[in-house]
Parts: sequence; C-alpha cells; structure tokens
Amino acid sequence: MNEQTKNQINTVRQGQASRRASSVKVEERTPTPLEYAKLRDSARWDKMDLKTIEQGLKNSIFSVCATFENEVVGCGRVIGDGALYFYIQDVIVVPAFQKKGIGEFIMNEIMKFLATVADQNAFVGLMSAEGGTGFYERYGFEERPGNETGMLKIWRKKTV
Ligand SMILES: CC(C)(COP(=O)(O)OP(=O)(O)OC[C@H]1O[C@@H](n2cnc3c(N)ncnc32)[C@H](O)[C@@H]1OP(=O)(O)O)[C@@H](O)C(=O)NCCC(=O)NCCS
Repeated sequence: MNEQTKNQINTVRQGQASRRASSVKVEERTPTPLEYAKLRDSARWDKMDLKTIEQGLKNSIFSVCATFENEVVGCGRVIGDGALYFYIQDVIVVPAFQKKGIGEFIMNEIMKFLATVADQNAFVGLMSAEGGTGFYERYGFEERPGNETGMLKIWRKKTV
C-alpha cells in the first residue's frame, strides 16, 4: 500500500459530497480479534471463539482495516496459498458507515495487493452475500457459468 493511502483519507469519494466519510483511514493492518468479532457481529455473522479468530487472522495473506477516530469500521482480508489460490474474505463495513465508498476503498486495496502477488491464471474466489454480486462485479468477478456452482459446509461439531 502506498503512502498516500496510508495517510488519512479525508474525502472517500471526491465530488460526491453527500457520500463523504470524513477522516476515515484505510490502511494495511490486521484487525485485533475483538475488532474482528465486532465487525462480524455488525454483519450478523455466526459468532466465533476469540482464540479461533486470533488463529485465523494470523494466517491472513493480506488484511486491510478502515478506521474512524481509532475505531475500526471496516475490514477486508485475502486468504489462500499465496500463489495458486486466493480467496477474498470478510469484506465488512459496519452499517452506520455503509454506502460512503469505504467498501470500495477496501476492495481497491485488496485488488492492488492481488496485482502484486497473483500470477497469470491464478484463481481468486469469494463468496457473495445474497444480492451482493453487483458489489464485486465492478472488479471483474462473475458468477460461475452454466451449472457450475460453489459448495460450502459450515462446520457444526455436534452434527459430525
Ligand atoms: C458489502 C459491503 C462491504 C459494501 O460496503 P459499502 O461501504 O457500503 O460499499 P460502498 O459504499 O463502497 O459501495 C460501493 C459500490 O458498491 C455498491 N454496493 C454496495 N453494496 C452492494 C451490494 N450489497 N450489492 C450491490 N452493490 C452494492 C454501491 O451501491 C456502490 O455503487 P455506486 O458507486 O455505483 O453507488 C457492506 O454493505 C457490508 O459490510 N455488508 C455486510 C457484510 C457483507 O455482506 N459483506 C460482503 C460479503 S459478500
């Protein structure tokens, strides 16, 4: 990430005064487990144990945080094997700060990072929330064609 981005971003969207988030800083850093847990809560995602969160965050390839007055109001991460497969995870902006261009800033930083590490034909995946594909399409992501689909399993210990 360049110095300009690390500096405080006073205007998130130049020329769109109604959507300004003044003094939001977007920088490369990993959220603390507690910050991350709060961000997850704000998105109403399942709760995870703080130790598990700590371990997961440590294994990030890249993390970015958006902060306002030292409070984390957004984040985004890249996970994967660092060469063949990358997955974008945890792109979250807390509701009070949504629709001000912060998610776009987070994605821009993620895309800039990927441009420095992803080789030709590397796979970059993500899971979109319902109705959220439009947010990612602007970065060139597309739904899998035809009948190809993604699958997932949320691990429930009691049902194993
Ligand atoms: C998705 C999310 C990160 C977007 O953050 P945000 O800061 O509100 O997004 P921005 O203000 O930067 O919006 C950028 C653009 O994407 C569009 N956009 C935002 N959320 C969108 C969505 N869910 N679907 C389609 N487009 C969306 C905006 O309209 C805007 O477009 P515009 O410039 O043409 O007006 C935020 O809504 C969020 O945290 N949601 C809950 C967690 C979540 O679902 N994360 C994504 C996992 S798939």
